[in-house]
Amino acid sequence: MTTMALEITGVADAATVGGALSSSGAVAPAAAAESAVLGTYKRAPVTFVRGQGVELFDERGRAFLDFTSGIAVNALGYADPGVEAVMREALETGMLHVSNLYATEPGERLARFLVEHAPFASKAFFCNSGAEANEAAFKFARRWARSTPDASPAKHEIVALRGAFHGRTMGVLAATDRPGYRIPFRPLAGGVSIVERDIEALAAVLSPETTAAVIAEPVQGEGGVRVLDPGFLRELRALTRERGAALVLDEIQCGLGRTGYFLAHERAGIEPDMVTLAKPLAGGLPMGAVLLAPHVAAAVRPGDHGTTFGGGPFVASVALHVVERLADPALLKRVRENGEWLGEELTAMAARTGRVRAVRGTGLMWGIDTNAPAGEVVANALDARLLVCSAGDHTVRLLPPLTITREQLKLGVAILEEVLQ
Ligand SMILES: Cc1ncc(COP(=O)(O)O)c(C=O)c1O
Repeated sequence: MTTMALEITGVADAATVGGALSSSGAVAPAAAAESAVLGTYKRAPVTFVRGQGVELFDERGRAFLDFTSGIAVNALGYADPGVEAVMREALETGMLHVSNLYATEPGERLARFLVEHAPFASKAFFCNSGAEANEAAFKFARRWARSTPDASPAKHEIVALRGAFHGRTMGVLAATDRPGYRIPFRPLAGGVSIVERDIEALAAVLSPETTAAVIAEPVQGEGGVRVLDPGFLRELRALTRERGAALVLDEIQCGLGRTGYFLAHERAGIEPDMVTLAKPLAGGLPMGAVLLAPHVAAAVRPGDHGTTFGGGPFVASVALHVVERLADPALLKRVRENGEWLGEELTAMAARTGRVRAVRGTGLMWGIDTNAPAGEVVANALDARLLVCSAGDHTVRLLPPLTITREQLKLGVAILEEVLQ
């Protein structure tokens, strides 16, 4: 089975890749010395040195089929020629960074593109990561909620949903529903509560006097790949409007084409007040963004928030190219078609193996509840040269690049089936 990934690639030349690297001496084997990188991640026993398309290559030249895309970052795969060309072009300006005290053309063009492709939005705020985007959205929500002369000073509560993941910095950690991530760092930021994914439970909590915003992922990623029903999203939109709370949609993992729609909430036909983006936005460079509806944007004043690096000209040039590609209707159609096919294949595979309890997902974002611990399946898949990640103790998550071919998807499912068997 380990040869399967090699067979389809046609690019994995183990001898050449491994030989070149070892003769240059540039890459030390992963296990040679204890890592000096802080152990916040339990890392897999592999060191990658090169990427191409849907594959990563280790220092021995072995190809791994990547069904994680750097956890939904590498939507266009590795070594994309378009992304590389834009980077070269952007370098020629000599401006890697320009302070946010000044405007640059790439930042302006990127913001314009994003708001033109998000009909609810009139402004974009740029930052450097998903957590930062959500932190900013919380601040903007509170600013907006108390912006009218008659607003209650107590209108500051943020409500997140059961199973949510909104990041790990101190503010948004309070909106992340994973005990293991929260408990060691208590006390968490106040004014944030977690409520069941149920419209009646939300209706019982949301108050025009105290609730500033509800934040929700249209597809919960870390929480086990749970697709929020479009009907539920519509009810949530109506309820938040009725109670005077902002609806913030965290599309950091599920946005920008992953579900087969440029923005995941388009499927529900709703207009949120804010959307947060990050992961695939700048093709692998760190970038986050908040898209704001006009009424929220109008409440934000100079000095309310800031960032040194956010939206710099280099990263914005790359992001503009990436979002132009990810908004392409042909790509989005392919994601929807491949997603439907993948869902059917995974369901059939689940029935054949008898080792799967549930298959959930949409577009190219799928979760498989396995009888075995997900960590075990992830490790065995790595041995079989397939990269998958977990989303909770018993959910294996698939997030392949959006450019993946049907053949490559087929191969991944075949490897996964063998692993599960
Ligand atoms: C839905 C969601 N929100 C927020 C974040 C945090 O993003 P970052 O790791 O860039 O801070 C993530 C990361 O996995 C995410 O999936």
